[in-house]
Amino acid sequence: MSERSKVFVTREIPAAGLDRVVAACDADVWKEPLPPSRDELLRRIAGCEGVLSLLTEKVDAEFMDAAGAQLKVISNFAVGYNNIDVAEATRRGIRVGNTPDVLTDATADMAFSLLISAARRMIECQDYVRDAKWKTWEPLGHIGVDLIGRTIGIVGMGRIGMAMAKRCHGGWGMRVLYHDNYQNKNAEAEFGARQVDFDTLLAESDFVSVHTDLNETTQGMFNAEAFGKMKPTAVFINSARGPIHNQPDLYAALKAGQIFAAGLDVTDPEPISMDDPLLSLSNCVIAPHVASATISSRNGMAEIAADNLLAGLKGDPLRCPVA
Ligand code: DGY
Repeated sequence: MSERSKVFVTREIPAAGLDRVVAACDADVWKEPLPPSRDELLRRIAGCEGVLSLLTEKVDAEFMDAAGAQLKVISNFAVGYNNIDVAEATRRGIRVGNTPDVLTDATADMAFSLLISAARRMIECQDYVRDAKWKTWEPLGHIGVDLIGRTIGIVGMGRIGMAMAKRCHGGWGMRVLYHDNYQNKNAEAEFGARQVDFDTLLAESDFVSVHTDLNETTQGMFNAEAFGKMKPTAVFINSARGPIHNQPDLYAALKAGQIFAAGLDVTDPEPISMDDPLLSLSNCVIAPHVASATISSRNGMAEIAADNLLAGLKGDPLRCPVA
């Protein structure tokens, strides 16, 4: 690490990490609420030895060229890193870090809150009250789907998938199915989870929750065909990455009653277009990609992102390197 390495921090992050970066480096911190434009970003990273990036920044070969050959480390303030061309960074000897673990419970909490909100028609109920339609207690109104003893299908049984399974199995006695390239023996031992093929998961699950990363095989895996294989009473939850579902196909499935409801913390694109017909549906709960937005998660992410950045500048192993 040179005397005070030049770094660019692409957005203000919690002081738990930012203060240490600013103290140790010649840090340029982007303080605007919206991300820098591509041109601005490429200008600001020129000559930097390190960049602390967010999932909103595309970190590709053009980015690395614009930074220059002295770029040593890219520290992503997220567990997901589909915004980064890791192979290209590795080829150039640039280290890449992410922020796992500290957001696992917060993300699973959000996934579960979307599940229960969608299952119990919370958007419709809230609109009903606010639109002054609530006139009496209705024996036949706003009937949702039950949770206890149902089947949760988890796509991607990693850390967050496990935390979701724990909530569903431990709290609500759900049977757990999962679809993953790898067998997760811990999930099988702890929750009696059963690894199944995608079609079986779709056909047998009452709730389908996505916890996989975005890659060429998962992009668009929830399309018309997949929604068509789900139960009409099923609830679809995505708190991973928006492009894993095909949004027009999801709209069509919800509108036609092919599935019961959906809960999304992620959309495609982000932010969702205000013309997107999904916004007209009362059986789709949408949050603005906030699953990790708790005090301890965001502080923890900031600490790890700072550790990764500072270690990479010194040429030390990163606290959380991306494989
Ligand atoms: C991540 O970390 O990948 C989330 O999407 C944002 O916290």
